[in-house]
Parts: sequence; C-alpha cells; structure tokens
Amino acid sequence: MYPAAPVAETRELEGLEEAALRDIAAAASSDELEAARVAHAGRRSRLAAILASIGSLPAERRGEVGKAANATRRAIEAAIDERRTAIEADELGSQLVADRTDVTLPGDPHPLGALHPVHQIRREVEEIFLALGYEIVDGPEIETAYHNFTALNTPEGHPARSLTDTLFVEGHPDRLLRTQTSPVQIRVLERRDPPVYIIAPGTVYRRDEVDATHTPMFHQVEGLAVDEGLSMAHLKGTLQHLVRELIGDREVRLHPDFFPFTEPSVQVQVRWEDRSGASRWLELLGAGMVDPNVLTACGVDPERWSGFAFGVGLDRLAMVRHGVPDLRLFVENDLRFLEQFA
Ligand code: PHE
Repeated sequence: MYPAAPVAETRELEGLEEAALRDIAAAASSDELEAARVAHAGRRSRLAAILASIGSLPAERRGEVGKAANATRRAIEAAIDERRTAIEADELGSQLVADRTDVTLPGDPHPLGALHPVHQIRREVEEIFLALGYEIVDGPEIETAYHNFTALNTPEGHPARSLTDTLFVEGHPDRLLRTQTSPVQIRVLERRDPPVYIIAPGTVYRRDEVDATHTPMFHQVEGLAVDEGLSMAHLKGTLQHLVRELIGDREVRLHPDFFPFTEPSVQVQVRWEDRSGASRWLELLGAGMVDPNVLTACGVDPERWSGFAFGVGLDRLAMVRHGVPDLRLFVENDLRFLEQFA
C-alpha cells in the first residue's frame, strides 16, 4: 500500500488558507478585516461548507478531512485575532493623535455675570435696614385702587389718581399697576399691630413718557416705622444714616413737600456737586410722618402710635451714586454699560 495521495479537500483547504491569510494580512481597517473574516470564515464561506460536509463523508475519510479543515479554521481565526489586535492598536493610536488636547491653548472664555446696578443698590439698601432691625416685605404689583390711593389718604378725584398718571387694568377700574410702593404700608398695617419696622422694595409703574429721567417702569423702596413716640428726629436720623452708608458723608436737609399720606411731608435733599463742580441740593427721596388718617384707615390708634414713612427711587439712587446721566441706560442691557458695575 502506498500512502494515500492528498485528497481533493485537503488541497483545496491549503488554497483557502493561503488566500485567507493574504487578505487578512492586507486588511488595513477593522471593516476590511471583518470583510475578510466573512469571506473566508463566515457562515457562507467555502470553509464553512467543507466543515459542514464532513459528517456526510465516508467514515474512513472523516478523520483526515476533519483534522485538516479544523486546522485551517484555527489558523484563519488566529490570523484574524492577531490582525485585529494590531489594527485596533493602530486605530486607537491615530484617534488619540486626532483627539489630542493641547492643554497650552487658551480655554473658551465663560464671562461671569453680575447683578444689575439697580439690583445691587436694592441689596445694599436691604442690608442697611436689616442691620437696623427692619424686616423686608413684599406686595403685589397689580394693586387695588383702595390700597394704592384711598387708604393712603388719596380720595377719588385726587389728581394723582388720574388716567394720565396711572395704568389701570382694562375692564377693572378698581385694579391698577401700583404707582408707588406705599400700598405695602397699608397691607402691613392691616395685618399686624405696631410696632412695625419694614421696608418694601419693588417695581412700580406710571404713565410716563420715556426720557433721560423717566421710564414707565421703575423701582422704589418704601420704608415704614410705626411705634410709640416716633418723631421727625427719628426720620431724619434714619435717612441720614441711609445716605451716609450709600453715598458717603454728605449734608442732608429736609425740604417741605406734600404727600397725601404723610403730614408733615418732606423732600430729602443731599448736597451734590455736578460735573461742572457746581454745588446744589439734589432731591433724593420723599418722606414724612404717617398721616393719622392712614393709621385710622388701618385700625391703628393715632393717639397712641405714630410713625414715619419714606419712599426712594432705586434707579435714581443708582444714577446719583454712579453718576449715570440717562435712566434709559439701565434698561437697554448694553453689556458695555453693565460691565462697568460687575
Ligand atoms: N410714594 C411716594 C412717591 O412715590 C414717596 C413717599 C413714600 C413719600 C413714603 C412719603 C412717604 O413719590
């Protein structure tokens, strides 16, 4: 007997292996390698067909062909694994190069925001009065005519109530956008008994044309103190303290004025040098002793209690404090302006 000549399958397997190893070695990417795997070792490959046919070979040839086919399969799989490791390392390497972060480049700027100058002043005023033992309270911006006017001793027919000054809610003659923060005085006194020491900062609205010193929406802070034995001296001392804390040690004077809800009423003026250096009195806020009619309207006995109130425009304070010539700058949101207060 001569050794059996290599059978057809064995020779074909050698050819398959050679072709597979050539394609695997030539694969330059994961995708190309996968294509080579599918072609040479996938479910529809010739190798798979040979492996599947082993069972139907004559028994004496199964061992030989099976061994050879499995050896080819293992050789192809090993070559694929090896090539995959190499390609992945390459791909990772080039990705790392492509994604490399240059830590020496300047970063993306993220500018910090800051409080609006009017809001800054509001916070400062709040701090000053918190330190004096006052409480900060809030009130609605849509008010009743009663709280905004009537209870503040401003009866119907008073010029301040007129359509030319006040923004009413359409269809609701009793509802308006508050023209001042003073209605918060009423809301507080209705709810609680003296002693009361509060400030109420907030937005107010008037039918003003827009110009350098008027906008239809602006900000005020109201102050109210009701206690036994309060006098004008307490009012003056308190406001002098406010001015000193906010804009420095300046001469302050009380000038007679009129508000329906205070008696006597004053205008608080500070000594001010304008740009040309000329010195003059600048009106800063309105104030006065709470009118007994207001106390009575809120059920507070004016024989026992007295108090003072003041209202100051926050926008105006910010203008004075920073020498801003035009109120509109505060609402235009031009960052070149706002940044100066950051
Ligand atoms: N409410 C007044 C105004 O808006 C200011 C003010 C408040 C005056 C409190 C006296 C007392 O002009």
